[in-house]
Amino acid sequence: MELRAVRGMNDILPEEALRWHYLESTFRSHAELHGYGEVRTPILEHTSLFTRQIGETTDVVEKEMYSFERHSDNLTLRPEGTAGAARAYVEHGINAKEPVSRWYYLGPMFRAERPAKGRYRQFYQAGCEHFGDPGPLCDAEMIDFIAAYLRKIGVSGFAVHVNSLGSAGTRERYRAALVEHFAPVRSTLSEDSQRRFEKNPLRILDSKDPRDREASASAPSILDMLDDADAAHWKGLLRYLDVLGVPVVIDPTLVRGLDYYTRTLFEIRATDADLGAQSALLGGGRYDNMVEGLGGPKVPAIGFAMGLERLLVSTPASPVTRSLGCYLAPLADIGADKALVLARELRALGVTAEVDGRGGRLKAMLRRADSLGAHLCVLLGDTEIARGVVTVKNLRAHTQDELPLEGAARALCDRIAAIAGSTGTDNDEARGAR
Ligand code: HAM
Repeated sequence: MELRAVRGMNDILPEEALRWHYLESTFRSHAELHGYGEVRTPILEHTSLFTRQIGETTDVVEKEMYSFERHSDNLTLRPEGTAGAARAYVEHGINAKEPVSRWYYLGPMFRAERPAKGRYRQFYQAGCEHFGDPGPLCDAEMIDFIAAYLRKIGVSGFAVHVNSLGSAGTRERYRAALVEHFAPVRSTLSEDSQRRFEKNPLRILDSKDPRDREASASAPSILDMLDDADAAHWKGLLRYLDVLGVPVVIDPTLVRGLDYYTRTLFEIRATDADLGAQSALLGGGRYDNMVEGLGGPKVPAIGFAMGLERLLVSTPASPVTRSLGCYLAPLADIGADKALVLARELRALGVTAEVDGRGGRLKAMLRRADSLGAHLCVLLGDTEIARGVVTVKNLRAHTQDELPLEGAARALCDRIAAIAGSTGTDNDEARGAR
């Protein structure tokens, strides 16, 4: 059989990668603007990290983890970034070094889900984790941060759904209310929900199965059951969001698929993009008990992660193109030697340069230079080299002249800067530096 990529795992080819770079670099600078620093944690973690933190009865842990044993360690390819970040936070005793930590990350995650548009088995997340601030000011600021990022990258329509899951006491009372609500209709629920009924009835609210949806429609709202401290936090969140002018949809049915959340919970859904059932661009919330659960001190935390594949579908296919400064076309062996050295000198000056090493015909080389969007094509033929010059074709202005080979790199670099000045393109773009 022909070898293909693993189902649900995609290749990202260089042309497509340009759009990824745009989302990623915009995310990095946006996060850094808000005081976040990058954390890079391993892609493999001990399986127990996820089973304990994400929750034994979640879909992720029950059905979707890529786990295996090696050298007597039970390991799992990370299905998400929060548990690993919190583990690193505790392991490095970060709370003793600073009262508040703002971390961001970018990278691949793995879940053995049924592949569909916007749902893959290897997918990429960009996320933030904020440790040490109980909120709700920082909760609102995080949601505003995300909305600003989505606007920056051109996501046209999105809705911010928010809910509160309260703290442990509230959730315990809510759990009891849900058991009471679902008990009479238990036998009509999906098999998964019947199984989770006693252990984790909140999961039933998160089910996409129409039988569960029907039974959930009349379920009590957790927002009616918040204790005083949770209610004050929830009100504070809505007030700060109002101060920031962020419109939200209050959604008491929002529970999300991970068990570690406490109080603030949010999900941003695309309203314009064609994402089918996968309309959640991102999700997040507060997880005030995780650091302590990992053996650390009691440090509150909040975070979110967005799926880059889903953002790509939701943003305009902007014309991000690769541009090349100089294409070097050697027409003979001696020309090839000179081209190699000239290309190195150009790159040292920050000009992107490519040498055509195929030894082909001039026409084919010019076609290639054109297709790469090169600004200049430098021809290095025998007769030119013998006279100590190179021929320079400006592929945009369709002009041609000669330059002395000696000092050609500097002269070509100046020309490109002049092209940038006259066309209004910025210098980096003209040099092909992005
Ligand atoms: P999550 O809701 O499981 O939350 O995933 C966050 C986002 O990752 C989703 O909204 C979606 O955009 C993307 N995503 C999830 N699964 C897939 C998939 N199979 N294919 C493509 N994209 C996917 C978390 O992961 C939490 N760690 C978020 C968080 C951070 N909460 C607190 N801090």
